[in-house]
Amino acid sequence: MLKLPYKLYRNKFYIPSLPPANSLSGQTILITGGNTGLGFALALHCLNLNASLVIITTRTTAKGLAAKAQLETQTTGTGKVQVMLLDMSTLGAVKEFADQVTREVKVIDVVYLNAGVQNFPGYAPTVSKDGWEETLQVNAWSTVLLGLLLLPWLKVAGRGKARLSFTGSGSKFFFFCLLLLLLHSSRTLSTYVLDVV
Ligand SMILES: NC(=O)c1ccc[n+]([C@@H]2O[C@H](COP(=O)([O-])OP(=O)(O)OC[C@H]3O[C@@H](n4cnc5c(N)ncnc54)[C@H](OP(=O)(O)O)[C@@H]3O)[C@@H](O)[C@H]2O)c1
Repeated sequence: MLKLPYKLYRNKFYIPSLPPANSLSGQTILITGGNTGLGFALALHCLNLNASLVIITTRTTAKGLAAKAQLETQTTGTGKVQVMLLDMSTLGAVKEFADQVTREVKVIDVVYLNAGVQNFPGYAPTVSKDGWEETLQVNAWSTVLLGLLLLPWLKVAGRGKARLSFTGSGSKFFFFCLLLLLLHSSRTLSTYVLDVV
């Protein structure tokens, strides 16, 4: 029962060991939101593990080309980076992207759905073109729709062994588990929380 919280704790404060060199040899990886932040770091990592092709998405060509140039300078990845445009602020645009990917990309090994927005408490909420709050639209609806639309293609282009991964928040899960443990061990606290709820 304590295995999962312990694993989350370890992953948060200790760096897991890196996979062996060349472990992505010959693989094609698609990373949404791969031009910056975690997605960019992931793209760099995949190229350093010798992936054959890393496809990154961004919303603007200029940003994508700048990221591609940076990735190629920092690795031996010349000719191994491709940029595609993806805007997840409407479900229609997600559908168009899924159509394009499934039409143009014939082989895939891993898809990382990483693109997303992080709005902090107190921010002025923005509404997407589809009428949803932006975080909900991009991180939830569009991400789930994209994953679902890519599944049949993943099966075929992935030759039965492709993986679909999502970027999530380990911190939220870690603190959620911590709260559950506290509630479990402290009757006063759980009574208090129940009262508040
Ligand atoms: N950093 C953290 O501490 C943290 C913690 C928990 C979860 N996360 C999650 O991890 C993911 C990456 O975070 P990050 O910190 O690396 O973010 P980041 O540096 O702000 O990068 C976000 C990426 O998502 C893309 N993106 C944003 N809105 C988009 C939209 N409407 N349509 C398509 N692409 C869009 C951006 O593309 P453009 O360049 O075109 O804007 C960019 O490539 C997010 O899903 C975030 O919620 C991050």
